[in-house]
Amino acid sequence: MRILVTGGAGFIGSQFVRDTLAGRLLSPPDVRVTVLDKLTYAGNRANLDAVAGDPRLTFVHGDITDVRLVDEVLPGHDAVVHCAAESHVDRSLTGAHDFVTTNVLGTQVLLDAARTHGVGRFVQVSTDEVYGSAGPTGAWTEDAPLAPNSPYAASKASADLLALAQHRTHGLDVVVTRCSNNYGPHHFPEKLVPLFLTRLLDGRRVPLYGDGSHVRDWLHVADHCRGIDLALHRGRPGEVYHLGGGTELPNKELCGLLLEACGHGWDMVDHVEDRKGHDRRYALNSAKARTELGWTPTVPFTEGLADTVQWYRENRSWWEPLLERAALTR
Ligand SMILES: NC(=O)c1ccc[n+]([C@@H]2O[C@H](COP(=O)([O-])OP(=O)(O)OC[C@H]3O[C@@H](n4cnc5c(N)ncnc54)[C@H](O)[C@@H]3O)[C@@H](O)[C@H]2O)c1
Repeated sequence: MRILVTGGAGFIGSQFVRDTLAGRLLSPPDVRVTVLDKLTYAGNRANLDAVAGDPRLTFVHGDITDVRLVDEVLPGHDAVVHCAAESHVDRSLTGAHDFVTTNVLGTQVLLDAARTHGVGRFVQVSTDEVYGSAGPTGAWTEDAPLAPNSPYAASKASADLLALAQHRTHGLDVVVTRCSNNYGPHHFPEKLVPLFLTRLLDGRRVPLYGDGSHVRDWLHVADHCRGIDLALHRGRPGEVYHLGGGTELPNKELCGLLLEACGHGWDMVDHVEDRKGHDRRYALNSAKARTELGWTPTVPFTEGLADTVQWYRENRSWWEPLLERAALTR
């Protein structure tokens, strides 16, 4: 089996590649993996260090919007796991162009090539943010209307619709996964958990948006990758599957846990103006993935968070060189 993983040098894609090659997922031991990654500010070859010498891995440095390159790379692959994206909401508020180019146009380039070259399965890795902001209770099922609020979320919703259209129109074997907020190792230090951790471990202050009451549902990246893998191997063509972590927390509460883990108090927190269009709550109903794919998150949040804190403590050499890049892009 040959799998093309786009964005395989990023946070989630690299976890998927490491877990696949380590035999922790369902692909057979003779699986071959090609990573296609542009190495944007968020992409990092070091995320693949653990598997760099593996003869089953091929790394291609390139852009998913490059039609000619994608046409060269894709033939011979049985499946695409599409993780490549511009993924940071804040950056989409000040510059949506790259989000539309990569997330929308890039996805269409891959879909067209997948169809032309007879790729068996296309997994579109997406997000709960496509549904907009949830009410205080309840959780979205897969047929909830798409109502994205940020340019990032709108670009992901567009990509999901293009992928599903490719299935309905041309019969491409597409599966869409939508997950909640991920946390874990190798997370670029611009999103809440790694930003706060790297700052607090350096004795620096952290910025908390608005009143901190925005609720997110936390999913360990390894559980997310098991869900992507189950969708790859067992998902039904043309279906959407929710992968929610099941641990809903207001940002303020998560901030408190990170402060405690790093031995700091609330005096380290700057309450900053809220993000524009900040969604109050996301909530996914994952019953379909549980029933059809046999997926359920296995990493207890307290344990996963403690392991993540420990990983950032022990891997300064991974994140210190990224701080300047993270600051420049903010
Ligand atoms: N992190 C989360 O909590 C989360 C939650 C829900 C969904 N997702 C989705 O999961 C996927 C992966 O997210 P992530 O957190 O790993 O993102 P990331 O920003 O860590 O990694 C993205 C990767 O894509 C690569 N890339 C960007 N533009 C590219 C292009 N034009 N061509 C080729 N490669 C390109 C980058 O170099 C990087 O390696 C994304 O599609 C994202 O929308 C993430």
